[in-house]
Amino acid sequence: MKSPIRIAVTGATGQICYNLLYRIAAGDMFGNDQPVILQLHDITDAQPMFDGIVMELYDCAFPLLTEIITTDNSEVAFNDVDIALLVGARPRGENMERKDLLAANGPIFIEQGRAINAVAKRSVKVLVVGNPANTNAYITMKNAPDIDPNNFSAMLRLDHNRALSQVALKLRVPVADVKKMIIWGNHSTTQFPDLSHATVGNNKVTSLLKDSAWIENHFIPVVQKRGAAIIEARRGKSSAASAANAIINHMQDWVFGTAEDNWVSMGVPSNNSYGIPNGVIYSFPVTCQNGQYKIVQGLDLSQLDKERMHNSYQELIAEQEAIKHLLTA
Ligand code: NAD
Ligand code: LMR
Repeated sequence: MKSPIRIAVTGATGQICYNLLYRIAAGDMFGNDQPVILQLHDITDAQPMFDGIVMELYDCAFPLLTEIITTDNSEVAFNDVDIALLVGARPRGENMERKDLLAANGPIFIEQGRAINAVAKRSVKVLVVGNPANTNAYITMKNAPDIDPNNFSAMLRLDHNRALSQVALKLRVPVADVKKMIIWGNHSTTQFPDLSHATVGNNKVTSLLKDSAWIENHFIPVVQKRGAAIIEARRGKSSAASAANAIINHMQDWVFGTAEDNWVSMGVPSNNSYGIPNGVIYSFPVTCQNGQYKIVQGLDLSQLDKERMHNSYQELIAEQEAIKHLLTA
């Protein structure tokens, strides 16, 4: 048996985590030969909620679950962790944009970045889910200067999965056959869901669709606005099961690698790829191997694609400007 890995999860009494913790403990994220120690964090007021969560974790009798730690102390939660899943943050309600959460949620990631810097393993892989995810990942990374910036990521995988499913439903093909989807930019309505490189078998999705109106009038806006559609349909609650599933997909691909003929979308610090300046946490198509991701290079982009990508970049810069005071405090 392998030795256990330590996984910190914040916001662990929230609704995403109720869909996530049991799947991690069952082996869905790191495989059924990998024991796990769950280091669960939530705010002080939420601590009583851990009683039920922990009872249920034990009642599943998961063979891989070696230990459960619950705490309201970030340094206890991140102590020596291999993986940090930063879910804890306020969700938006109806008629809010994700960036409206910056003032409430930004400070959380200052404190958590500092705690990761102080006590996590130097090789820790960090995924920020709490919204607005890209800028919160940026805040976390900036507050953990002793950890390689390439170890910080923001979750765009839910958008990526949404895009795959829209194409699979339209073409009536299995979703696993749709490859090379891209979400560029911010986890917001300025993101650019781009199917122009996507394939099904040996065919380009665009040539199978032969329907540019569907791409412009259905595909792009549906993916961009899916979060709000879910909130409306769930009477104010944001996506939880699909978000938890995307967290599992993101970490699994990052750790174990992507398939040879495919890529996935991850929010990662730019390295000047596609004209997006260094350091901005921006969603790119990436391939993963040996626990490292690489931004896919050399894709052809039209003028309109570039404008859409730039628009999302501008929004990220505006978000960074809005939290600048938090970084210098
Ligand atoms: P939730 O309200 O059910 O749970 C949030 C949890 O965060 C709560 O348990 C709360 O106590 C905790 N929390 C609040 N302040 C905290 C702090 N200072 N430190 C640690 N924990 C704190 O919300 P949820 O539905 O689980 O969503 C969590 C976040 O994930 C939200 O910001 C939501 O918008 C975001 N989200 C992102 C994506 C994505 O694709 N990136 C998808 C879905 C949801
Ligand atoms: C989502 O995309 O479902 C989440 O980011 C929640 C939201 O606020 O849209």
